Amino acid sequence: MPRVRDSILVVGNWKLNGTLAENEARLASLAISASRVGERVQMAACVPFPYLYQAQQALRNTAVAWGVQDVSEHHFGAFTGETSAAMAAEFGATFAIVGHSERRSYHGETSTCISAKIGRALDSGLTPILCVGETLEERDAGETTEVVSAQLVEVLGALTSEDRSRLVFAYEPVWAIGTGRTASPEQAQAVHAHLRGVLTAVSTGLDQRPILYGGSVKAGNAEELFSQDDIDGALVGGASLVATEFGGICDAASRIHGGLANVIA
Ligand code: PGA
Repeated sequence: MPRVRDSILVVGNWKLNGTLAENEARLASLAISASRVGERVQMAACVPFPYLYQAQQALRNTAVAWGVQDVSEHHFGAFTGETSAAMAAEFGATFAIVGHSERRSYHGETSTCISAKIGRALDSGLTPILCVGETLEERDAGETTEVVSAQLVEVLGALTSEDRSRLVFAYEPVWAIGTGRTASPEQAQAVHAHLRGVLTAVSTGLDQRPILYGGSVKAGNAEELFSQDDIDGALVGGASLVATEFGGICDAASRIHGGLANVIA
């Protein structure tokens, strides 16, 4: 029996981009897109920390959620430069991207650190979006499924089954991030189906959690990606900075699916 997917989640990852003025326009266009796609698509923007208050003010009476791109693995204390999940939650954040490949490679984040961050995010009521993905070398060596399974299992192994059941997952092949080179819908679908199998093996029912695809998603390729059985939405970097592109991705999602299931735990 085919899997029934009841909503599509489209999350923007603004990364290290934005100014107050640029954000104002970007947030306003998110609100407009949300009113157009209605309840059929769940939208969110993960903004840089200093702009959380701006996002809260601009999005509070809209259907668009907001979140952060990382959280500290610590609750509080002498950790200069860190920002806690609790601080983000105070500004109404609901999502926290965790384990993004840019954090893993530029900041040396390990599975242990990522599990701790997920713990802090969940403590504060945020929904972590756990990212996994292989490099081009790993794909070319035929190691994709091993790599993504290991990334998933190492992090999930440190969490309780209750905690695992509150996650959103994202498959982001490193070679497709910011490169303009998207995984083909078939390549993405194959990895998503594999990940779903891994999730089932880890905890019964965990395969029902959303698995987003990320890596050069644009208005022009979103519909084909969302047409795949196991792709439940998108984590969007570059195109989330361009209102027409992000709006186009959300429109593509709304063309495919009706009905909203709120995945925010
Ligand atoms: P991209 O980034 O859409 O610019 O490829 C995706 C991501 O890093 O989450």
